[in-house]
Amino acid sequence: MATDLHGPVSARSHDTAVRVEGLTRSFDGRAVVDGLDLTLRAGEFTALLGRSGCGKSTLLRVLAGLDRDITGTVLVPKRRAVAFQAPRLMPWKRVWRNVLLGLPDKPERAVAERALEEVGLGERAGAWPKTLSGGEAQRASLARALVREPDLLLLDEPFGALDALTRIKAQQLVAELWQRRGCAVLLVTHDVDEALLLADRALVMRDGGIAYETPVDLDRPRTVGSPEFAALRSRLLTELGVEEDAAPAEAA
Ligand SMILES: Nc1ncnc2c1ncn2[C@@H]1O[C@H](COP(=O)(O)OP(=O)(O)OP(=O)(O)O)[C@@H](O)[C@H]1O
Ligand SMILES: [Mg+2]
Repeated sequence: MATDLHGPVSARSHDTAVRVEGLTRSFDGRAVVDGLDLTLRAGEFTALLGRSGCGKSTLLRVLAGLDRDITGTVLVPKRRAVAFQAPRLMPWKRVWRNVLLGLPDKPERAVAERALEEVGLGERAGAWPKTLSGGEAQRASLARALVREPDLLLLDEPFGALDALTRIKAQQLVAELWQRRGCAVLLVTHDVDEALLLADRALVMRDGGIAYETPVDLDRPRTVGSPEFAALRSRLLTELGVEEDAAPAEAA
């Protein structure tokens, strides 16, 4: 059963954004998430790594409230937003309407425009989604998340489909937005370098639980070349079962 953290006041500690205890999610009798425990602090940026099929998206969907067929305790903030790998814009609605889609009290266009400006898309508010580039569509999707003013931002491989340069820009944008907004972020990524560039903490999911976690205690802005970065990288790759020499920079 899922419970909102904002519900019973006693459940909420001010510095905790997410508390998950003993979470299990099974498909056809197979537990993909199996007794998972997880705590995210308010304002913390956490990266979630793990091999394909280990259950990362399943966990994110549960935290987003999109999947309630679970056992265990899930405490999350009421205000939360998700952005997926594919931007999922409705093609028959202009960009600004996509940004406001599903919001309860029908905000004005100006609200969407402000969020679009934050992601550098202010001038495309009236455009049709199919006229946006991949990176622009992804930024529109981020604007849609931001307009919800989330305390928890869930990102499921949001940069996966972008070319290398657009991806770096999108990473910088997310870092800026996070610093400005101060929300907790949970970023699912396959890219160890991306995790280490952005996160305060990196988690590795395996066998249905969080098998390894490490603080990412590096000064910002970060560079891939430092010895501390390399040491963390190497450890995470080992946890992911990847031989470092065999690992291309982009995919773990
Ligand atoms: N609706 C579903 N019905 C049946 N099985 C599912 C369903 N959703 C997910 N699964 C299974 O659960 C497992 C975990 O899937 P999930 O999408 O969470 O993996 P993931 O870690 O996000 O992988 P990837 O890195 O490839 O995105 C997979 O084996 C998948 O087939
Ligand atoms: Mg996934």
